[in-house]
Amino acid sequence: MAHLSILRYPDPRLHTVAKPVAAVDERIRRLVDDMLETMYAADGVGLAATQVDVHERLVVIDTSPERDKPLVLINPEIIARSTELAVAEEGCLSVPQVYDKVERHARVTVRALGRDGQSFELAAEGLTAVCVQHEMDHLLGKVFVEYLSALKRERIRTKMLKKTREEQRKT
Ligand code: NI
Repeated sequence: MAHLSILRYPDPRLHTVAKPVAAVDERIRRLVDDMLETMYAADGVGLAATQVDVHERLVVIDTSPERDKPLVLINPEIIARSTELAVAEEGCLSVPQVYDKVERHARVTVRALGRDGQSFELAAEGLTAVCVQHEMDHLLGKVFVEYLSALKRERIRTKMLKKTREEQRKT
């Protein structure tokens, strides 16, 4: 397994629209394992392939308190969404140390293929529902800061560029 590097906002590659995974083969299983390792190492609850510069429809999530229940969604589709909305504070491994409130569907049902290539359906609520919607947005090239005001987004953009410059200076 390997740690993958995570693209940081406002990297334009984060706005790439992902293509469906053609086959759940050895390459994809290795990518799933590497993404899980990368997500756990970064202490994140979700990671989309887009964030590691692979533009295929694949996300990994783990919202369990023990961090031992990985959820793998390959070619995910939302097949039902609640009319009820809920606001939750979100963060993103591509936008480190930035948290803000986003309104989304309170519950969603997603259909996807698992790491074994088998189709399954999952009814998600709470943090898992937030994660599923947040990660699936990544596959469409959308980062959660795009739900915020233009002013906030501009501040975040400046902060992230500064952070990246400072890190580059150190190395
Ligand atoms: Ni994210």
